[in-house]
Amino acid sequence: MPQSASLKLDDKEYPLPVLVGTEGEKAIDTRKLRADTGFICYDQGYGNTGSCESAITFLDGDNGILRHRGIPIEQLATFSDFVETAYLVIYGELPNKSKRKAFGMLLRQNAAIETQMQRIFEGFPKDAPPMAMLSSIVASLAAHYPSLATNNFEKDLANFDLAAAMAISKVRTIGAMIYRYQRGLPYIFPKQDLPFCDNFLHMMLSEPYQEFIAEPEVARALNLLFLLHTDHEQNCSTSTVRTVGSSAANLFTSLSAGICALSGPLHGGANVSVVQMLQAIHDEGDDGTRFIAAAKNGSKSNRLMGFGHAVYKNFDPRARIIGKACEEVLNKLGKEDPLLTIAKKLEEAALKDDYFLSRKLYPNVDFYSGIIMRALGIPNSMFTVIFAIGRTPGWIANWREVASNPKGRIYRPRQIYIGPVKRDYVPMAQRG
Ligand code: SDX
Repeated sequence: MPQSASLKLDDKEYPLPVLVGTEGEKAIDTRKLRADTGFICYDQGYGNTGSCESAITFLDGDNGILRHRGIPIEQLATFSDFVETAYLVIYGELPNKSKRKAFGMLLRQNAAIETQMQRIFEGFPKDAPPMAMLSSIVASLAAHYPSLATNNFEKDLANFDLAAAMAISKVRTIGAMIYRYQRGLPYIFPKQDLPFCDNFLHMMLSEPYQEFIAEPEVARALNLLFLLHTDHEQNCSTSTVRTVGSSAANLFTSLSAGICALSGPLHGGANVSVVQMLQAIHDEGDDGTRFIAAAKNGSKSNRLMGFGHAVYKNFDPRARIIGKACEEVLNKLGKEDPLLTIAKKLEEAALKDDYFLSRKLYPNVDFYSGIIMRALGIPNSMFTVIFAIGRTPGWIANWREVASNPKGRIYRPRQIYIGPVKRDYVPMAQRG
């Protein structure tokens, strides 16, 4: 393992320290590069750049490995649940019985949305994009709970446990209320005695005099979906939360920025695009051949949605778990979904096609997640909201790392300027 690196510029050599992570990841430390050489690194999209040191999640994209605080995602998916995994991701250890009970109680005590906050919903058209509503209403938490959102790291960290539990619980409630608002349905208030996922389904699907009782398989499948989305290293939305948090912006404001980033179809919005793609294939009676041919023309708008990943150059372990859960849930619910059959055929065809194999494009977390959400009765418009509810603990954990880092710096990347060189102002009369 090299202990140092050096950069040769013309006839001068610059030594560069090497950093090695606990899993053997190697980095060249370029923090002094500009001061020492006048050069910066250029890495569009930061695909080869580490923005931070983090102890939360480890990804090995070449080997399809995902671990939260060292625990493999496959074990968490088998033995844990969303609330426990959220605690692990945020606090670094699995909770003992009393800590798990206290955390669950804090979530239940902070599930409701006060009447004054409910008025914000009325300001949106009924057909507003749910993620636009979610980001705006989550941002307003800073206005409604100013003592938890002082924009002062020390003060906000002193109230972190309550703010974190409030964010996890209320993002879930706001998601259910968006669903109700958009259908002109009355809000259903959370029940203190319901577990996290059952409460979400209750608030989303119950009627004023007809309580929705989630079937155990449905609540379990939703729990798995939230768990699998909990955190994922420095993805686009998590990096956004860290960037906003690095300015000492409070947790709620930083989470709102993360929700905005997640809403993009190349990131969290892909699960909706996958189902739309599968539905289009189904409606055209195509077997996917046309889609695969179009996906290979390289344009971003024709991509095989749910395929490819900025880090995984092997299977996304979450895709395997969700793919298996899809079949189980549909069997248990006695449902058939032709889109699952199409998805499996598409996966099989693409994984034989050199275009995808040569670019190491495999199914990612979004490829099957939409199908399982359909099986749970969740409409397309809510898919990315479900992703956001699941990802909230990961965003919170990353915000906390930024806020707690005494040597932390505001995120401020540089650029390569390619605009016009110096030129004089031209008065209007001479502009032709
Ligand atoms: C998520 O980062 C995370 O961890 C994200 C996430 C999380 O949990 O937070 O895992 C969640 O965002 C999953 C990804 C969901 N997005 C999609 O499924 C949209 C479809 N996939 C892509 O657009 C794409 O694969 C990305 C955005 C996910 C990754 O893009 P990269 O790594 O920047 O890849 P690239 O754009 O540089 O493409 C490399 C090549 C190109 O071809 P060439 O120029 O080499 O000829 O692969 C091609 C691309 O055209 N390509 C695809 C493709 N994805 C990449 N071609 C067809 N279909 C695709 N899906």
